Amino acid sequence: MFISFEGIEGSGKSTCMRLLAEHLERHGYSVLTTREPGGSALGRTLRHMLLDVRTTRLTNRAELFLFLADRAQHVTEVIRPALEEGQVVLCDRYVDSTLVYQGYGRGIDVDMLRQLNAHAATALMPDLTLLLDVPVEEGLARAGQRNQEEGTVISEGRFEAESMVFHGRVREGYLALAEEEPKRIVRIDATQPPEDVLLSCVSVVERWLHSAE
Ligand code: TYD
Repeated sequence: MFISFEGIEGSGKSTCMRLLAEHLERHGYSVLTTREPGGSALGRTLRHMLLDVRTTRLTNRAELFLFLADRAQHVTEVIRPALEEGQVVLCDRYVDSTLVYQGYGRGIDVDMLRQLNAHAATALMPDLTLLLDVPVEEGLARAGQRNQEEGTVISEGRFEAESMVFHGRVREGYLALAEEEPKRIVRIDATQPPEDVLLSCVSVVERWLHSAE
């Protein structure tokens, strides 16, 4: 089973993914957690280029192709082999991030992005996508606090430095995708306390596992 996590900055994806991995492992599943950008050795180099605020003058198209290169390597080197071994793969961001950040956010044609995604990902789509949804103000406030604590403002802050308007378009994009594909993309209210967010995710995943049996 392949599950992706999506949401704006500060939506709590990473924490929720870690807790869900622990939950599934306790129930006997072998779980691989990974992320984009940066889930492969090549991807870790690309991640620095993509997120460091000191990377300047990256054009929107160059940015897009770096995310796609990260994905192409990641799917072939990491995700597909794990799925073939029967592992549950949990991925922090995947194809929908490109549709909303480069599409809704930067203004690149979304249908073209779908085709490029399919090519980069060898058409591998998640079985389930958990969209952790929070209002933009709340997400950015949480992300800002985390960055201050972890000192990642410079090395990982290039997208957080974007305007509220940009992040507003990203959130709208996610909500539009969830309406288009309600079976795959499930919106979770991420303003709830973390333990309730986890419970919501667990119930969605269990429903999916039972329906697939
Ligand atoms: P991430 O490390 O998950 O950031 P956060 O923890 O703040 O959510 O993701 C890095 C950034 O990369 C995030 O701002 C979204 C952006 N991104 C894209 O613009 N396009 C993509 O295809 C992906 C995978 C990420």
